[in-house]
Amino acid sequence: MLKVMPIYGTRPEAIKMAPIVKALQESEHFECIVTVTGQHREMLDQVNDLFGIKPDHDLNIIQPRQTLNGVMTRTIEGLDKLFEEDKPDAVIVQGDTTTSTAGAIAAFYRGIPVVHAEAGLRSFDIFSPFPEEANRKMTSQITSLHLAPTSTSRANLEREAIDPKTITVTGNTVIDALLNVVEKKVPYSEPVLEEIEASGKKIVLITTHRRENQGEAMRGVGRALGRLADENPDVVFVLPAHKNPVVREAVLPFLEGKANVTVTEPLAYGEFTRMLAAANVILTDSGGVQEEAPSLGKPVLVMRENTERPEALEAGTVKLIGTDEERIFSEVSALLHDAAAYEAMANAVNPYGDGKAAARTVAAIAELLGVGERLPDYGA
Ligand code: UD1
Ligand code: UDP
Repeated sequence: MLKVMPIYGTRPEAIKMAPIVKALQESEHFECIVTVTGQHREMLDQVNDLFGIKPDHDLNIIQPRQTLNGVMTRTIEGLDKLFEEDKPDAVIVQGDTTTSTAGAIAAFYRGIPVVHAEAGLRSFDIFSPFPEEANRKMTSQITSLHLAPTSTSRANLEREAIDPKTITVTGNTVIDALLNVVEKKVPYSEPVLEEIEASGKKIVLITTHRRENQGEAMRGVGRALGRLADENPDVVFVLPAHKNPVVREAVLPFLEGKANVTVTEPLAYGEFTRMLAAANVILTDSGGVQEEAPSLGKPVLVMRENTERPEALEAGTVKLIGTDEERIFSEVSALLHDAAAYEAMANAVNPYGDGKAAARTVAAIAELLGVGERLPDYGA
C-alpha cells in the first residue's frame, strides 16, 4: 500500500481535510497516516472528534500567543523526524496556514511529493491576508499536485506558469464537510443557543480572528458590535469567540453586560453550521465561512479589504466592507432594516463545490502515484 500523509494543524484545515482523510481510508490503494501539528488544540480536537478521526501522530506544537516563526520551526523539526521513520510516498497539505507551508517545505526538502489542497487562491496582496497570501504562494512553488477548488484558482496558478498538467479542479472539500453535517441538525451544547433559535428573532452571527485585523481594527469591530447591539434590542448577536486571547482582549470588552449579545466558546462544527443556517446576517473575516454561508443562502459581510474568494462576491452574496467601525455599523444596519438590500444578497449559490471534492482529490493522488486516473474537473 502507498503511504499518504495528510498534515494539518488548525480548525479550518481539519474541517477541510476530514473528507479527504475519510476517502483515503476507504481507498484500496492507500495507507492514510494522519499527522496533526497541534498548531491549534481545542479547536482542532473538536473537529477530529466530530468526524471520528484519531491522528497517528500529534506534534502538539501549540504555545500561548505563539509566533509564526515558532509554529514554522517546531513543525518542520517535528515532521522531519516522522518522515525519516514513516517514509510517506506523498504528503497532502491544505490551504495557507503556517502548518500547511511548513509541511510542504519539510516534505520537499526530503524529496517527498507535495499535494496541495485548496491551491491557487490569491488576494494579490502579499500583506493581506497576512501571512496566508505568502504562505500559499510559497507552497505552490514546491507542490507536485495542485488541487484547485475552482476554475478561477486554476487560472491563477496557470498565470504563475505552474504546469497545467499538474493542476486538477476538485471543488472545495469544505462543501463535502458542510453537506455531511448541516442536515443532521445536531443539538446545541449551550441551551441559550436553542432559546435564541426558537425565539424567532433576527440573528447576526459574527466570527473574527485575522492577524492583520488584530489591534485597533479589531477594537473597531468590537465598538461597532456594541453600538449595533444597543441600537437593535430585538436582534440577537451571537459571537463564538476564537480561542486566541489577542482576539478576545480586543473585542469582548465592548460587549460585556449586553442582554442581546451571546458570546460562546468555539462551537463544534455541526453546531456552528446549524447557527449559520439559522442566522440572518453573517459578519466575518473567516475564509471558510465565506465559502459555507453562500451555499446556505446567507448574506455575508466580510471584514476585510480584499478576498481570495471572488466567486461568491461575483454572485452577490458576499460583500467586502473592511474594518471601519462606521461602515460595519451601516452595512449591518442596512441588512437588518432594508428588505430590498437583504433580498439582493440572500441567494443560495454554490460556486465552491458539489460535495465530491474528496473523491476527485483521491483519484488525482492515485494518478500522481501511478495507481489510477484523475476524474474530470469540477465544473468541466
Ligand atoms: C491560524 C492561521 C489562520 C487561520 C486560523 C484559523 C496561520 C499563520 N494562521 O490563525 O490562517 O485562518 O488559524 O482559526 O497559520 N489558541 C488556543 N487554542 C486553540 C487555537 C488557538 O489556545 O485551539 C490560541 C493560542 O494562544 C495560540 C493563539 O490562539 O497561540 C493563536 O493561534 P494561531 O494558530 O497562531 O492563530 P492565527 O495565526 O491567528
Ligand atoms: N467554525 C466552527 N466553529 C466556530 C466558528 C467557525 O466550526 O465556532 C468553522 C466554520 O464553519 C469554518 C471554519 O470553522 O468551516 C473557519 O475557521 P476559521 O474562521 O477559524 O479559519 P479560516 O477559514 O478563516 O481559515
